[in-house]
Amino acid sequence: MKHLCHEAGVGEGRARGFDPYDTGCDTVFVVRHDGRLRAWRNACPHVAGAPMAWRRDEYPDAGGRLIACHAHGARFDPDTGRCIRGPCVGLSLQPLVLEIDGHGEVYVQEHIHAQQEE
Ligand code: FES
Repeated sequence: MKHLCHEAGVGEGRARGFDPYDTGCDTVFVVRHDGRLRAWRNACPHVAGAPMAWRRDEYPDAGGRLIACHAHGARFDPDTGRCIRGPCVGLSLQPLVLEIDGHGEVYVQEHIHAQQEE
């Protein structure tokens, strides 16, 4: 597993991007919604894996309740990753395996594989 941060580093309704695979850009982001952390690949299903934030760590929408892709305005359910509004309704973000150890340190899966574009 690849270390990302301490769980306290992502507040409710906030997100953080990470580059755990040393690509030179954030390929992963973590969102806290209703107290729970989830990790997603930073790749919008609308346009062949386009990065989603309009600037570093800006993945939630203005209300902090949905994940937004700032390219064309898609909105995603932060629990399921499914697009619920915008140009790719019904498609989903790619979930990543996240683990939190007994000290609150957050880790993401060792490798990332692009899922089949739908
Ligand atoms: S690339 Fe994400 S909404 Fe178009």
